Amino acid sequence: MLFEPIIIKNLKSKNRIVMAPMCTYQAVNGFANNSHLIHYASRAIGQTGIIILEATAIEPRGRISVDDLGLWSDEFVDGLKSITDECKNHGSKIGIQLAHAGRKSRVLDEEIVAPSSLAFNSSFPTPHELSKDEIEEIILKFGEAAKRADKAGFDFVEIHAAHGYLINQFLSPITNKRTDEYGNDKKLFLERVLKEVRANFSPEKTIFVRVSAEEYNIAGNNPENLGELLSEISYLFDILHVSSGGIDENSDFKTFPGYQLSFAEYLKKELNKPVIAVGLLQDENIANQALKDNKADLIAIGRGLLNDPYWPLHAAKKLNADIEWPKAYLRAKIIDSGLK
Ligand SMILES: Cc1cc2nc3c(=O)[nH]c(=O)nc-3n(C[C@H](O)[C@H](O)[C@H](O)COP(=O)(O)O)c2cc1C
Repeated sequence: MLFEPIIIKNLKSKNRIVMAPMCTYQAVNGFANNSHLIHYASRAIGQTGIIILEATAIEPRGRISVDDLGLWSDEFVDGLKSITDECKNHGSKIGIQLAHAGRKSRVLDEEIVAPSSLAFNSSFPTPHELSKDEIEEIILKFGEAAKRADKAGFDFVEIHAAHGYLINQFLSPITNKRTDEYGNDKKLFLERVLKEVRANFSPEKTIFVRVSAEEYNIAGNNPENLGELLSEISYLFDILHVSSGGIDENSDFKTFPGYQLSFAEYLKKELNKPVIAVGLLQDENIANQALKDNKADLIAIGRGLLNDPYWPLHAAKKLNADIEWPKAYLRAKIIDSGLK
């Protein structure tokens, strides 16, 4: 299953393996450079079907750290285009995660903003509560970033609505204490961001949304109530990427192989949408079984792909799947008794 192709809308992937978005902390003033190019192209050579570029800020104060990629200006397009060109040359599909850190920004010379004026913890500044006009501006910036992502050649964008960052802060009752329409309707901000992104991104291209399905806090979101929120706006995205945690420092959870799989399975059924499962799935048998059991449509690998850029090639060998190797590396393909 892991090596079966899949088509979702116009997105055709040669296999079910997704590189999870992971900050590489290598950008200078938001610009992509050769380190990013080598990093992502290596995973494309390793036969990752779908690559999601790390959290990329739609405005400077939306960066998680000063070393984050940015997409708040046209100047960023060329650097990103060299990454999309190279990854596509190796047959991968490639997208970018559009993000805003909100109250979890560590960029100290920027004003930190959030739906409500509540600090993440005592080591973070208290955020400025966004006015409705300021919310409007951020929504427009998501759209502008999506337009630039299109120009840079990305096949899809992923909207980062997980891990306690700005969109998650609007979705969660723990962080959204507003009394206006954005407080009464917790999904409204995400809904408006998705509409703006849709309007600015090629209509045939796909939109992913990444959520924290479980906030590990009785006062926060869980798969059931998040499913209800998302069901009203699921027509605005194509693939749901199911993660968890990050809304506050109290959320205590234990990780184990496939610890988020049941959330993906639940939301897949509830929303009737293709889902990506993620979270300690680098054991290829567990990943493969999750697909066989129809718990997910795609499997994202994070740390497994940091550890081994050729994870898909090695997983194929272990699963006895005879997949194509890149021409330059073909003589290293191990066939039964050894090197060819
Ligand atoms: C170094 C590192 C950076 C990460 N950066 C991001 C990010 O930019 N956006 C995001 O949504 N998740 C981020 N994550 C979370 C991963 O995408 C993934 O969900 C998590 O690592 C669990 O998957 P794994 O067990 O396969 O590593 C990051 C994780 C790591 C280890």
